[in-house]
Amino acid sequence: MQSSIKTPERSADSRSVARRAVSRPELLRRFLQAYWLRPENALWMTLRSEALSAVCLETPCIDLSCGDGIFTFLHCGGVFDPVFDVFTAVDRLDRVRDEHVDMFDCVDSSYQPHIQERAGQSIDVGTDLKSSLLGKAKTLGLYGRLVEHDNNTPLPFEDSTFQTVYCNSAYWVTEVDLFLEQINRVTQPDGRIVLHVKLDAMRRFNLGAYEDVLGARFLEIIGRGRLDTWQALAGRREWEDRFARAGLTIVDATPFVTRTHAHLWDIGLRPIAPMLVRMAAGLTPKTRASIKRDWVDLFCELLLPFCKPDVDLLGGHAEPAEIQYVLARTS
Ligand SMILES: C[S@@+](CC[C@H](N)C(=O)[O-])C[C@H]1O[C@@H](n2cnc3c(N)ncnc32)[C@H](O)[C@@H]1O
Repeated sequence: MQSSIKTPERSADSRSVARRAVSRPELLRRFLQAYWLRPENALWMTLRSEALSAVCLETPCIDLSCGDGIFTFLHCGGVFDPVFDVFTAVDRLDRVRDEHVDMFDCVDSSYQPHIQERAGQSIDVGTDLKSSLLGKAKTLGLYGRLVEHDNNTPLPFEDSTFQTVYCNSAYWVTEVDLFLEQINRVTQPDGRIVLHVKLDAMRRFNLGAYEDVLGARFLEIIGRGRLDTWQALAGRREWEDRFARAGLTIVDATPFVTRTHAHLWDIGLRPIAPMLVRMAAGLTPKTRASIKRDWVDLFCELLLPFCKPDVDLLGGHAEPAEIQYVLARTS
């Protein structure tokens, strides 16, 4: 048994229900307001949140690799003032393009998201590898406790601690078998594990097949080393074998991102994001707010038709790009 961090006991009235019902256009708008300069990310998160809303995040609940917590805050019904977005707290923009530095890996005491409405439920524990992101998550008032942790090492929680384990970043982990075993260990016997996993079909849902026309440099600019960070990317069969090896049974599997979504996301505004962020930072607050309003309105209209888990404009059958697995302990 691993020991250390204590987590609140589950009490009869602390069983949380799924997030408050929010219409699809409103959910998309909230994600776009937070991620406006990367609308393709807002679309993906909207799809993810809609899939997740079918599941109750019963307490005690842990959000593994919660990052800055913005996704989970919005998923749980939190609302930001439109003035806030994730691009107001970034750093090292000059190193994003060539060194693939994470511009969000920074925080200082001035970081204070403008919260209009608090999230409708709280999450007992959030973890992440990056302390800066946990520093940001702390400001949301969403997590009972935040723990810096590398998922390639044993989870610092006692056996059977959590009723719900949520993670949308398992494909970043190198020691994925260990990670899944650890998830099994910290889940209560009747608990649920909710994983959003990317499939290795993602390797094909890009422009790689056109390298002879586009050139390697083009693909490097678009790709920005993403695939290198997704150590555990695997096909559906391999993910399901991993779950079985870790003593986990599949309760439900819901694909929610198609290859059309993945192709949209493949390019998106990623290559120009650092320049857009710098440009937005140079505007007066009034001009920034006004452009952001029009921008969000436009992308709400453009992306709403894609905001369904099965939209695919391309012919024939294709593997999904991401699946939501709800898992239970086999033993
Ligand atoms: C795509 S982000 C998702 C963050 C958050 N869950 C969300 O939905 O916005 C992936 C997260 O995984 C974290 N991460 C990457 N490798 C990790 C590791 N080995 N252990 C723990 N967290 C890790 C990153 O710091 C980052 O916050």
